[in-house]
Amino acid sequence: MPLAPYLNQIPPEITAVSDYVSFARVRLNDNAWAYLHSGAADEITFRNNRLAFDDCGLLSRALVDVRGGHTRLELFGQTLQHPILLAPVAYQQLFHPEGELAAVRAASAMDAPMVVSTLANHTLEDIARHAHTPLWFQLYFQADREFTLSLVRRAEAAGYQALVVTVDASIAGVRNREQRVGFHLPDGISAVNLQGIRQLPVALTQGQSAVFDGLMAHAPTWRDIERLRQLTDLPLLLKGITHPADAQLAIQLGVDGLIVSNHGGRTLDTVPAALQLLPNITAAVQGQVPVLLDGGVRRGTDIVKAIALGASAVLIGRPMIYGMATAGALGVAHVLRLLWEELEVAMALTGCRTLDEITPDVLARNNA
Ligand code: FNR
Repeated sequence: MPLAPYLNQIPPEITAVSDYVSFARVRLNDNAWAYLHSGAADEITFRNNRLAFDDCGLLSRALVDVRGGHTRLELFGQTLQHPILLAPVAYQQLFHPEGELAAVRAASAMDAPMVVSTLANHTLEDIARHAHTPLWFQLYFQADREFTLSLVRRAEAAGYQALVVTVDASIAGVRNREQRVGFHLPDGISAVNLQGIRQLPVALTQGQSAVFDGLMAHAPTWRDIERLRQLTDLPLLLKGITHPADAQLAIQLGVDGLIVSNHGGRTLDTVPAALQLLPNITAAVQGQVPVLLDGGVRRGTDIVKAIALGASAVLIGRPMIYGMATAGALGVAHVLRLLWEELEVAMALTGCRTLDEITPDVLARNNA
């Protein structure tokens, strides 16, 4: 049960994404809050995702005529009104009884594509039935590869328009903050899309490692990506690419897009901030496929910075949930609207009429 009631209108004192954090905190118990707001280990990456945006300055441009400007873009054959997507976030009923249905209603109202997690609390078909916006399906490879393929087929049949394979979380990060509160999934909250999956327990022999030979025994490898590429015609993105060599490997295997992400600082701690990772990846990719980014996006100016460094679009994880925990679909829609409006203001003040006009020139450090 939430500690404070959900809002059914947005109070005027909520004027920015950051205002939502304290509203969300008082509506979530310690268990859900630890799951949402924590990063791995010492949370260095979690913090740095934000600090990197703060440390990157923008230069305003004077007297530019920006009439007729817009935030539209084409991505994987879809026309989007703005470059802000909802990131895959598991178990959204931890944060609001409507969970993913609140998110998809808000995404539909605000023309934002939504990436639905394998670990959603609603079936991927149910979410699709409520969608009036492009849906992408986030795939976690399961030990049972046949079942994994059945998820892909279900997503195709339900009209999902892209597959996002998350590659940075084959094993959970060391999340001390969750461990300290004894994080657990409450009764009634489960990964319903995985119902009926075969368990394939690994029997360790003496001397074998619980990590290398146990938890990682069925983890996906590049071979799985290669096979998946042959098995589906959906645009295929890899989420969690941080190394330029991996970006190149992915492109060689026919991947259609990359999401530069450190999982919001939730997997390997001390990975550099998402924004810091971006230039090396875009340099390796050389425009061959779109590169998206998530991690720490909280302001319209952050979106300008990511685009200036080569991102086509950004995804938001925790901000969506801060909004949802405060006011359900209304809160998520408001978060999207705030970011979209802030993006337009930041573009106008940097003299950019379209996303294409956002170049490294807008960054203060490139002009120092
Ligand atoms: C996530 N993320 C995530 N990613 C994914 O591929 N599948 C998933 O099921 C989840 N689940 C999840 C739960 C929670 C509570 C959080 C906060 C995050 C990672 C997510 O997609 C995204 O990479 C980060 O949230 C981006 O960072 P910000 O926007 O939260 O700073």
